[in-house]
Order: sequence, then C-alpha cells, then structure tokens
Amino acid sequence: MSSRGVQQAYSSLAQQYIDLLGSVETVHPDDLRLIEQHLGHLSGPVLDVGCGPGHLTGHLHAAGCEVTGIDLVPEFIAHARRAHPGVAFEVGSLTDVTRPDASVAGALAWYSLIHLEPGQLDSALVGIRRLLAPGGALVVGFFEGPVREPFEHEVTTAYRWPVEEMAGRLTSAGFTEVERLQRPPEGVRRPHAVLAVRAA
Ligand SMILES: C[S@@+](CC[C@H](N)C(=O)[O-])C[C@H]1O[C@@H](n2cnc3c(N)ncnc32)[C@H](O)[C@@H]1O
Repeated sequence: MSSRGVQQAYSSLAQQYIDLLGSVETVHPDDLRLIEQHLGHLSGPVLDVGCGPGHLTGHLHAAGCEVTGIDLVPEFIAHARRAHPGVAFEVGSLTDVTRPDASVAGALAWYSLIHLEPGQLDSALVGIRRLLAPGGALVVGFFEGPVREPFEHEVTTAYRWPVEEMAGRLTSAGFTEVERLQRPPEGVRRPHAVLAVRAA
C-alpha cells in the first residue's frame, strides 16, 4: 500500500479512530511503562513517528520529553494540536523526516510501521537509525505472528511480523536490542510485540 493510500484510508476513518483509540487509557499499562522507561527520561528531541491522534506524544510531553508527533494524516494532526496544546506536531512521513542526521535522542514507532510493505521496512528503519544520535532509543510496537503476512486491518492492509524477524531487521539497520515484550491475544486485541532498541 502506498503512503498516499494509507493516508487516505486513515483520513476517511480519522474520527472513528480518535473516538476508539485516541487516548492513553486504551494503551496497555505494560506498554505505557515500557515506552516511558525507554523514552520518557531522554534529554534531547524525541519523535513519535506515525503518532496518529497524538495521545502518546502528549503522554511523553507530560513526562518531560521534548517530543514532536509526525503523521501522514492531516485530520490526526489537527486533532492532536487541539487536544495537546503546546506539543509540536507535523504532517509528514516517517520515511522522509527532515531532521539532521544524529540529531534525535529517541523515537517511537507505535503501530506505524505495520502498513509498510516488507520491502519498504529496511530503508525506513535505516532512515530512523540515521536520525538518532549514537545510543539513541527506538521503541517499535507491532502485530506479531508466526509468519510474516498481510491481513485486513480495520483501516487498511497491515502486516504481522514474527518478532525474531523484526528484531533481525532492526539489527541489520544498526540497532541493538535492549528489551522485548510479547503479549498473546486478549479479547479483540491481536498478538502484540514491542522491541526497544538502541542505535548501535
Ligand atoms: C495504527 S495507527 C497508530 C497511530 C498511533 N501511533 C497510535 O498508537 O494510535 C498507524 C498510524 O501510522 C501512520 N502512518 C502510517 N504510515 C506512515 C508513514 N509513512 N509516515 C507517517 N505516518 C504513517 C498512520 O497515518 C496512522 O496514524
């Protein structure tokens, strides 16, 4: 799916997404803890790439981060600016972030890599790696599964990834794993994984 297609799909369902998932109360406490632990204390810029409605961006800002939320979808960014005054948000693509190399202390990619075609993932990870200062932190949340495969996500086609394969892609892009979390399906929630890595 092209980024234009992803943007259009989310734009058409933006309000429903915001109503359903646009608050930190919908984020599992273990995930929030992990995000805070790896990103909340950083001094230096942090990017929430694919921030959607901006609730995690707002959460990191409240924790003291100098954070900017970036998303393809203008409706999400407009909402995020209203909901989180004083927090920086930009319309843009995570594959084309305009920041100098090694200028960012940390990044969050929370379910925002899930719509990339497998062939697009490596260059996206290398791009994020390039933005990060040495030792910079990246936290990636994604749908996990035994084999890499596309499925019909509620908004648009997404991929589930074996956690080992995602970890390997991160290593190849120049990251060192520091923590992983996996959670089996819970109610309507699909199998889930988080990898916290550092720029090597
Ligand atoms: C499943 S939502 C997750 C949103 C948010 N991180 C959250 O936790 O609710 C996926 C988000 O990634 C964004 N996204 C997908 N591809 C992107 C890209 N190439 N650049 C920026 N945002 C992207 C979508 O617009 C959407 O807001």
